[in-house]
Amino acid sequence: MRPRGLFVTGTDTGAGKSVLSAVLLAAMRAAGEDVRAHKPAVTGLDEPIEGWPADHELLALAAGMQPEEVAPLRYGPAVSPHLAGALAGQPLDREQLLANARIALASAAEAGQTLVVEGVGGLLVPLAEDLTVLDLARDIDLPMLIAARPGLGTINHTLLTLHTARGAGLDVRAVVLTPWPEHPSVLEHSNRETLSRLGEVEVEVLAEIAAPGLNALTAAGERLPWKRWM
Ligand SMILES: Nc1ncnc2c1ncn2[C@@H]1O[C@H](COP(=O)(O)OP(=O)(O)OP(=O)(O)O)[C@@H](O)[C@H]1O
Ligand SMILES: [Mg+2]
Repeated sequence: MRPRGLFVTGTDTGAGKSVLSAVLLAAMRAAGEDVRAHKPAVTGLDEPIEGWPADHELLALAAGMQPEEVAPLRYGPAVSPHLAGALAGQPLDREQLLANARIALASAAEAGQTLVVEGVGGLLVPLAEDLTVLDLARDIDLPMLIAARPGLGTINHTLLTLHTARGAGLDVRAVVLTPWPEHPSVLEHSNRETLSRLGEVEVEVLAEIAAPGLNALTAAGERLPWKRWM
């Protein structure tokens, strides 16, 4: 049994998956949904991003959870999870990663909760030696969103991600360009239109959020048609 929910991937690391996941969770919660978040592994805790909490802390704030509940596996170095596990002396285990995600899925389904899963990096990032983010996303099989940058370079990265996801049989509901500038240039407008046309996909935008407070996240999420995506 699958819960209502979304899998948020991105074109790359730093593409906006956490911000997108957080605004969705905050808006869902404000609309009365009981929400849960899952991040299979978080890395880079030794190198905080100025102004923004770590992924599992941001998702926990938005979902009303404890950070450790969101991400069972947490590492300091800013490296791919498969390397973070190896550096910690305990390589990540494929079966453990799948089991963690399946437990998050099953308990959300049982409790009637809505689940948002944030990927790690892009789709072909290895979580373990023998498990990519794409493999995990296929196993979970929730509708997918792709967080992408609005500017130069996004067409190629976004279309590659879209084709890879669809080729694996995943249902991509939309691309979300983030942070969408207040005054978009001709390039950004064109990217939005081009991605929609060449990718045959809905393309939405997420405006820049000044600070990661619950009110700002909720307001931003309320501008996205998340109900239609689930
Ligand atoms: N809508 C937005 N408003 C404000 N800042 C944004 C927005 N979208 C992205 N950013 C900026 O981009 C950074 C990276 O975004 P985010 O952490 O969501 O990426 P990610 O894809 O989750 O990265 P990771 O691979 O580390 O999980 C944020 O810390 C923030 O500075
Ligand atoms: Mg993130």
